[in-house]
Amino acid sequence: MTTRETLAGELIRARDRTLRLVDFDDAELRRQYDPLMSPLVWDLAHIGQQEELWLLRGGDPQRPGLLSAEVDQLYDAFVHSRAARVDLPLLPPTDARNYCATVRGRALDTLEALPDGHPDEFAYALVISHENQHDETMLQALSLRSGAPLLDRGDPLPPGRSGVAGTSVLVTGGEFVLGVDAVTEPFSLDNERPAHTVDVPDFRIGRVPVTNAEWRQFLDDGGYAQRRWWSDAGWTHRQQAGLTRPLFWNADGTRTRFGHVEDIPGDEPVQHVTYYEAQAYAAWAGARLPTEIEWEKACAWDPATGARRRFPWGTAEPTADVANLGGGALRPAPVGAFPASASACGAEQMLGDVWEWTSSPLRPWPGFTPMIYRQYSEPFFDGTASGEYRVLRGGSWAVAAGILRPSFRNWDHPIRRQIFSGVRLAWDV
Ligand SMILES: [Fe+2]
Repeated sequence: MTTRETLAGELIRARDRTLRLVDFDDAELRRQYDPLMSPLVWDLAHIGQQEELWLLRGGDPQRPGLLSAEVDQLYDAFVHSRAARVDLPLLPPTDARNYCATVRGRALDTLEALPDGHPDEFAYALVISHENQHDETMLQALSLRSGAPLLDRGDPLPPGRSGVAGTSVLVTGGEFVLGVDAVTEPFSLDNERPAHTVDVPDFRIGRVPVTNAEWRQFLDDGGYAQRRWWSDAGWTHRQQAGLTRPLFWNADGTRTRFGHVEDIPGDEPVQHVTYYEAQAYAAWAGARLPTEIEWEKACAWDPATGARRRFPWGTAEPTADVANLGGGALRPAPVGAFPASASACGAEQMLGDVWEWTSSPLRPWPGFTPMIYRQYSEPFFDGTASGEYRVLRGGSWAVAAGILRPSFRNWDHPIRRQIFSGVRLAWDV
């Protein structure tokens, strides 16, 4: 299969998922489920608008497109905050669908005409990543929605296995190659590059993410009430926001997931916790959060060969046997569900299930060069005006397999927990 055929397939697959996530009536699509999220109809048209910008307008917002300039700017994420989008004169759902379809038709025609290996293939990969990332954002919005469930409970997952929760593996100290480059990963994004050598001392890392049952012990032990486990900023936030348990956990010991009230599975990775909660849990557990550099080494480095693995388990693309990805499950898989996912050091479920908070602010790797979408990473780097972020690694159950790599970096404010965020612990040796 040529790269162009792969890209066309990924475009179609992403669009199928997007359309399933907006397969609701117009009133539903216009609703603001939470001030943290856009109405679904904004995400839909924004997906088309960004696709048109990068694939049909050469990335130049001044170049005329299918929408008037006034409508086009409604979908600029840097101009309109999420909270304000519900009050904008947005395209009606039918118009948004038609616009996306028109753009997609032209984009596929343009792709078909590209010579093999043309540099514009990168822009296609960027658009695929963007649409899939918005699909995850729409799932976050749907998880915040109140009322009777719109989505079912999700696809079945393999069972977990006992004896892995709470255990850890050793990552042997020494140099490794952090990041990737255009040769090994042509569709990696700017913040994953360039590859460079970093020395990391010995450390231990959780074999699997922290589970709901473990988090329950923290809760029962008064973890949310004891100042000593929390950082200053974390404690201030805990008090102001009144945090007493993960988002979507109910006082009666159940949880609400996409509108379904259910028991909390003890062996499932905890999700919907802030960075501050993750930090406090780690302190209570006598551990710490990994740095993102440690995380990537545990995920990708094979000391036996002195080289990176493309995926934690080796070279094979992710399948349902090694990772819970793609959004169909609507929840993380229990720990131990994917023994074949183990990285060289023995860490499992590094990709999929929950985004894992790391202790690292978002910083450029040395030699960072912005890609065509200059505003993708640069405005969010540590020390810029947009504020403080922490990096999350590994992707969640909602991430599309085709866009995820061990080097993929995500980031968010330390107070956010509508995201599918969880925790993997680390320890000094
Ligand atoms: Fe976007």
